[in-house]
Amino acid sequence: MLPPPGTVLCRLAELDDPAGREFSFGRGPDALLMFVVRKGGAVFGYVNACPHTGGPLNWMGDRFLAPGGGEIQCATHGARFRIEDGACLSGPCDGRALSPVAVRVDDGNIVVAER
Ligand code: FES
Repeated sequence: MLPPPGTVLCRLAELDDPAGREFSFGRGPDALLMFVVRKGGAVFGYVNACPHTGGPLNWMGDRFLAPGGGEIQCATHGARFRIEDGACLSGPCDGRALSPVAVRVDDGNIVVAER
């Protein structure tokens, strides 16, 4: 389950530019696995579930980006997604997109935003 708006995820400065970070909330079937990607001073949040199989995009830790850091990449079959809106750009998810989680930067913190 998504934490309430205003919940602090981490400091923006803790993330390289660009880089991603994984977060999880809750347990069991209601658990929410999500990640954020920093690109410059902006952050983008998504549910950590690939539209292809529903499995997580990262195969270890906070690795969500393709080599070079310009796109999000699923580790399982290599689908690539645009950082800014989660649209699939190539791979078996063509025409689909990641599910967004609204986040914003507030006083240097990455926080959950209102939808
Ligand atoms: S599970 Fe992501 S591309 Fe297949």
